[in-house]
Amino acid sequence: HERTNSMGINLANDDELRGLAAAIAAGDTDWTAAPLVPGASSTASWIDVTDPADRRRTVGRWQPADEATVQRAVTNAVAAQPAWNATPAASRAAILEHAADLMEQRMPRFIAMCTREAGKTVVDGVAEVREAVDFLRYYAGEARRQFALDTLPGPTGESNTLQLEGRGVFVCISPWNFPLAIFAGQVAAALAAGNSVLAKPAEQTNLVAHAAVKLLHEAGVPEAVLQLVPGDGASVGAALTSDPRVAGVAFTGSTATARAINRALAGRDAAIGVLIAETGGQNALIADSSSLPEQVVKDAIGSAFTSAGQRCSAARVLFVQEDIADKVIDMLAGAMAELVVGDPGELATDVGPVIDSDALCLLEEHAREMAGARLIAEAPLPAAAAHGTFFAPRAWEIDSIGRLERENFGPALHVVRWKADQLDAVVDAINATGFGLTLGIHSRIDETVERIVGRAKVGNIYVNRNQIGAVVGVQPFGGQGLSGTGPKAGGPHYLPRFATEKTVTINT
Ligand code: SER
Repeated sequence: HERTNSMGINLANDDELRGLAAAIAAGDTDWTAAPLVPGASSTASWIDVTDPADRRRTVGRWQPADEATVQRAVTNAVAAQPAWNATPAASRAAILEHAADLMEQRMPRFIAMCTREAGKTVVDGVAEVREAVDFLRYYAGEARRQFALDTLPGPTGESNTLQLEGRGVFVCISPWNFPLAIFAGQVAAALAAGNSVLAKPAEQTNLVAHAAVKLLHEAGVPEAVLQLVPGDGASVGAALTSDPRVAGVAFTGSTATARAINRALAGRDAAIGVLIAETGGQNALIADSSSLPEQVVKDAIGSAFTSAGQRCSAARVLFVQEDIADKVIDMLAGAMAELVVGDPGELATDVGPVIDSDALCLLEEHAREMAGARLIAEAPLPAAAAHGTFFAPRAWEIDSIGRLERENFGPALHVVRWKADQLDAVVDAINATGFGLTLGIHSRIDETVERIVGRAKVGNIYVNRNQIGAVVGVQPFGGQGLSGTGPKAGGPHYLPRFATEKTVTINT
C-alpha cells in the first residue's frame, strides 16, 4: 500500500480536455442534494442553487434537513458506530481507497460541479479533486499504520497493548471554499478512525458534498455510518454540535464559529466533546531586498488571487523592503492589469467569482474602508461579470498590517513597505494579529530566512515560492493561534485526534 499523490487531469492532453469541457458544458442541468438519512425524509422546502459566475443560471437545488431528520440522523449514527468501529481499520481503509479510485475516475464531473456550484476555475477544480483523492488515500494509509494493535514491551511481566478506537459520532462541518477537498478530508479522517459521521457542508456547496457522500456509499461506507445533514449553521449546525450524543466536531470556517462550537461541546450534559478546527488567517509575504522582484510579484499574485483569494492560506499582506518596493509595486500593477477575470469554466480565466452576494458585500465594504489608501491596481472586469458575484482583484498600499480589522476573504492584497532595521518588527506585527496560518518569505539570504522562521508564530511557511496549495502528506496544513486548534490536515497527527486510546494490561 505505497501511497502516491493523485496526478489529476493533464490539461495539455486534448482527450482529457475534451472530456472535461463536455462535463462542464453538461453540468448546468439538474444536480440535487437532500439529506441522506435512512428512515427520514425532510419536509423542508427546496432551495435553488445558482452559478456564482452567472446568477441567471440555476445549476441545481437542495433541501435542508428538518428537525426530525436531524434527530433521526443522530440516532442512526449512534446505532451504527459500534459495528463500524469493530470493522478492522484495514477494511475501513480499503473502502476509502476504493472511494479514491472512483473519485479519480469521475474527476471531470466533480471538477464541473466545483466550477458551477463554487465558482472554481478549471485549474482549481483539478487541484480540488486531486486533494480530495489524496486525503482519502492518506487517512486510509494512516489508519492501517496507526490503528494496528501496538504491543508495548516493558518491565511489568504482563502483556500490555495500546489500541486506537473511534470516539463515537463525529460531526464534520466543512467550508464552501474547498467543497470537495476539505469535505472529503474531514469525513475520511473521521471514518478511518472508526467514527460514524454526520456531514454538514456549507450551505453554498451542498451539491458537491451530496455527490461525494453518494460515492462513499457506493464504495462501501454503510449509509447510517456516513449521513449527509444539510442545513444552515444556526439551526442544523447548532442542533448537531449541542447534541450530547456527539463525541466530536471537525470544523473549518471562522474563528467565531469555532469558539461557539467549543462552548457548545463543553456546555452539554455529557463528556466534553473534542474540537478539531481550522479557521482564518491574516497571511503575510515578506520580501527583502535580496529577493527577485519578478518572482515576488509572480508568487504574490498567485498567493493572493488564485481561487479569487478565497483560500484561508491566501496572502493578504505583502511586506516589501523599501529598496525594491517601487519596482515591485510597479510590476505588481502591470501584472494585475493582465489578470483574466471571468467565467471559471473557461481555461483562460485566472480569477473567477466570489462565492455569493454576502461575500461580495463584505469585499465592497472593505474597498470603501480602503478609500484613504493608495490603490496600486484594480484588475479589469468583463461586462458579463455584472451577472455574477465578481469582485475586481485589487491591491492597496497601507502603512501597517494593524490597519486591517478582519480577514478579507477575496482577491484583495495589501502592500506595506519596511526598512532594513525593521525585520523583527515586521514579524512581530504579523504575530500580533493573533492569526498564524501561512507565511511567505522571499529572500536569498539564509540568515534572514532562518530569523523569520524562528520568530514567526505560523503553521505553514513557504520560502521563495507561493504560499498556497499544501500537498497532502507532504506539507501538513494548519495554523497556530487564532487560526485553529491543530492538528494539521494531511499530517501524521491528525487521525489520532479523531480517536480515543485504550490500554489493556493482562497479567499473564
Ligand atoms: N489547504 C489550502 C491551501 O494550502 C488552504 O485552505 O491552500
